[in-house]
Amino acid sequence: MKTVRDFARFRAAGRRISMVTCYDAWSARIIQASRIDCILVGDSAAMVMHGHDSTIPATVEMMAAHVAAVRRGAPDKLTIGDFPFLAHRQGVAHAVAVAERLMKAGAQAVKIEGVRGHEDAIGALVEGGVPVMGHLGLTPQSVHQLGGFKVQARGEAAAARLLADARTLAELGAFGLVLEAVPSEIARAVTDEIEIPTIGIGAGPHTSGQVLVLHDLLGCDETFRPRFVRRYLEGHALVRRALDRYAEDVENNEFPSTEESYHDTTDSHGRRVAAPAR
Ligand code: KIV
Repeated sequence: MKTVRDFARFRAAGRRISMVTCYDAWSARIIQASRIDCILVGDSAAMVMHGHDSTIPATVEMMAAHVAAVRRGAPDKLTIGDFPFLAHRQGVAHAVAVAERLMKAGAQAVKIEGVRGHEDAIGALVEGGVPVMGHLGLTPQSVHQLGGFKVQARGEAAAARLLADARTLAELGAFGLVLEAVPSEIARAVTDEIEIPTIGIGAGPHTSGQVLVLHDLLGCDETFRPRFVRRYLEGHALVRRALDRYAEDVENNEFPSTEESYHDTTDSHGRRVAAPAR
């Protein structure tokens, strides 16, 4: 997948879209070599990379730095940059400036949480040539209003509200929609109802694609085991084992070896001599 146009194409063809988060160049290089369709430089960077307990501390500068690093590592993958907390609630001019910052850093599209009250900002960005992805359901920037990271759109009224918001986003010209932590049946209803592709996380199997936080699918946090994450690697255990082996080798003076060391192989006359055995 190269552009947001491919989103629509994949949906029309019934081809599911795979998306992962990424925040840095070295993992972007691995994603670049993989089958993954596109990258979300999510504001989850604030939690995963910076150790905060929510996404609220993410800033525009933080997001732009992560976007730039990811683009350097994965120049051929469609890269979507996240609007941080309240960046879309300070008027159209501010939203345009934030999009400019993220796109000049390398994003080809932006993602914005919610829709009510900032329809004008989303509309202006779309009109201005910025591809916008929506994000409904559990919107982590509203964690304090939602009372925690909880499943949303349970019950008829909440489901109807979600569906109405999804329609609004499609009408505003969003090219895709993340549905986070909503019942599978509701995600299916939204996907059937709107024309743009839906990308689910904790939203069941009926969306047009899936997104996971890279570090969750790689099992980097031993203690984080929510129902919606499938682990494809026990990353924490693997990395920890490698670190323990390295530490042990250093303690036992088994690293570095002769082969892993540089040697001055010239004598006082400038003649080459054999490298020492150890
Ligand atoms: O910031 C993020 O990583 C996200 C995904 C979880 C969808 O918004």
